[in-house]
Parts: sequence; structure tokens; C-alpha cells
Amino acid sequence: MSELTRVERKTSVQIVVDNLKAYYFVEQDGVTKEVKAVDGVSLKVEENSFLAIVGESGCGKTTLAKVLYGAVNSNLLIVEGKVCYLFGEARYELSPTVNTLREVWWEKVAYIPQGSLSALNPVRKLKDIFLDLATSHGVPFEEGKVKAHLEMVQLPSHVLRMYPFELSGGMRQRSTIALATFLSPRVIIADEPTSALDVVTQRNILRLLKDIQMKAKSTFIFITHDISLVPGLADFMAIMYGGCIVEYGPTKEVFSQPLHPYTKFLLSTIPTIGDKTEKQPIPGSPISLIDPPPGCRFCPRCPYSKKVCKEHKPDLVNVDGQKHWVACCLCG
Ligand SMILES: Nc1ncnc2c1ncn2[C@@H]1O[C@H](COP(=O)(O)OP(=O)(O)OP(=O)(O)O)[C@@H](O)[C@H]1O
Ligand SMILES: [Mg+2]
Repeated sequence: MSELTRVERKTSVQIVVDNLKAYYFVEQDGVTKEVKAVDGVSLKVEENSFLAIVGESGCGKTTLAKVLYGAVNSNLLIVEGKVCYLFGEARYELSPTVNTLREVWWEKVAYIPQGSLSALNPVRKLKDIFLDLATSHGVPFEEGKVKAHLEMVQLPSHVLRMYPFELSGGMRQRSTIALATFLSPRVIIADEPTSALDVVTQRNILRLLKDIQMKAKSTFIFITHDISLVPGLADFMAIMYGGCIVEYGPTKEVFSQPLHPYTKFLLSTIPTIGDKTEKQPIPGSPISLIDPPPGCRFCPRCPYSKKVCKEHKPDLVNVDGQKHWVACCLCG
């Protein structure tokens, strides 16, 4: 039996995430504990859009990316909720019983993992990596096409003769992007694709990703801890904290009218030219995802928290009748 659920349906919506919970199961002192890395995420990703998912280290971004890609492994499981991919008439669903999208990897959904080396087979030259990808998808390998594709990501064709370890960090990242986009996938999930690069290379690669997304009319999910990268790049943004999405909306609106106290803190950390005020770090430290607080996840660090925040975990609710959502007991 196929591990993939496929149902025929006519719709244009691409990705719907519904109350998704994905936990790691770890042994601590002989006891199995749950790390609630993704804990009730709901999202609708607009077709042909660029969505940024932003949050501090450890808030669950990579885990969410892995689950969206259908790459859960032995100690990470979807425990509740689902992810639906709708490609025209075809529907693919991930749930506690269906945990992989392997059948549509590369052709429909591609993933650029955090740390670009892991995406490239270290013992194969780049040409062979492309050859493997083409042949495993029944696509004829044409070196000219590969070279043209490399040119699009501004890589010289001689890299085809090189091993991944012989490339610079920027070249490796471009190679990973070239590989991920080679079969023209409809959805690309990129997890911190530029975090190890210098500022100039980072900006060039982000511009390249945006160009690819606009030309190919693909849906792009871009994961970053750096909120300052988002304007000009993402149409929509989701702010993640403690395994949950705390705010979601059009980037312009979230930047101009942030609602969640955590979003406001993140935005206040962005340096601006000429601003001499001292930037205040977000008070306190991120919560434990093994034993998160029962109410709002941000409550222990929130300067505005009230009794209700300690007791009640807020749902993500719409605040403008359109596309701006927030999960906060005190707003909405
Ligand atoms: N393989 C694993 N086994 C157990 N726990 C894990 C595993 N990978 C991640 N975690 C835990 O899950 C939580 C979320 O981790 P994740 O890597 O998703 O965060 P992140 O937001 O991507 O962080 P960063 O910005 O540092 O990449 C953390 O508490 C982390 O310790
Ligand atoms: Mg990560």
C-alpha cells in the first residue's frame, strides 16, 4: 500500500496545515519524554506566495519544515492534526498515520535543509548528483540543461566536476538551490538557506530565491531566525514561539501593525541606520518544550501577562476579517 494518501479534488489552495502536533520522543533518566516542538500549528499557505517563518533558536522551525516536507523519522512523530497539499486536482495528506511525501519529493515539493552540506552527497561529484536526481525521476540527463540551470543560480559549469567539499559555502548553497529547483517543484521549503554566509552573499542568494519563486510561480516557505531578512522578500510571515504560531499575516501589515508582544520584541531588535538607542534583548529565555507552561507559551517572558495568560492557551484568531491572525489572550 502506498504511504501516501491521494484523493482527486479540484481546488487551487496549495498547503493547509491544521492543528499540527509533532513531537520528539526522548529518553531522560529511563523515562520517555515528549519534546513538543510543533504543538498545534495551523496555517494556510497562499498559492504562489513567499511565506517566511520566523522565530528564535529552538522554537521548532526546523521541526515544522521537516514535517511539512514529510521527513519525520523514528523519534519524531506527527501525533495530531494534518498537512494537506493540493496540487490542482491531486491532494496529498500527512497525518499521524501517513508521515511521508516521498513520492512527490523533488518534483512537487523540494527541501533545502538547514546546513547545505547535508543536501549534497559528499562522495559524488556535482554532475553525478544531478545525474542521480534526473535518472531517479525518469528525466533524461542533458548536461547542457544542467549547465544552463547552474548559470541561472550564477554557478560556473566547471563546478559539475567538483565534489561538494571543494565548493565554497556560497557555491554549496547555490548548488543546493540548483538541485532543489531542477525539477521545477511547485513548493520549496528552505530552512535557514543563508545563515552561514557573509552579508553580501546572503543578500544575493535571497534575491535569487525570490526571483526563482516569482519566475516559476512556486510557493516558497522560507525559515529564518532573522526577522530583518523578511521585508521585500516574503509576502506573508508567520511568527513562531515555543512550537506555536503566535502571529501570521501579510509582511507589510505585521511590520506596520504588529500585535503579539513577541512580534513587537522581535521587530524592536532590528537595527536601523542612525538609531543610537540601545537595543533591549527579549527578557528571559525560551521555554522548555518538554514541559511548556499550560497557558500562553510566551507568558513567562511577557511584560503584559495577566492571570488569563497563565491559564488559557490562546488560539490563533483572525483580527481584521482578512489575513492577519494572532494568538494572544490580550489582543484580537
Ligand atoms: N532529533 C531531536 N531529538 C530530540 N529533540 C530535538 C531533536 N531535534 C530538535 N529537537 C528539539 O526540538 C526543539 C525544536 O528544535 P528545532 O531544531 O526545530 O528548532 P529551530 O527553531 O529550528 O532552532 P534553530 O533556529 O536553532 O535552528 C528544540 O527544543 C530541540 O532541542
Ligand atoms: Mg533550525
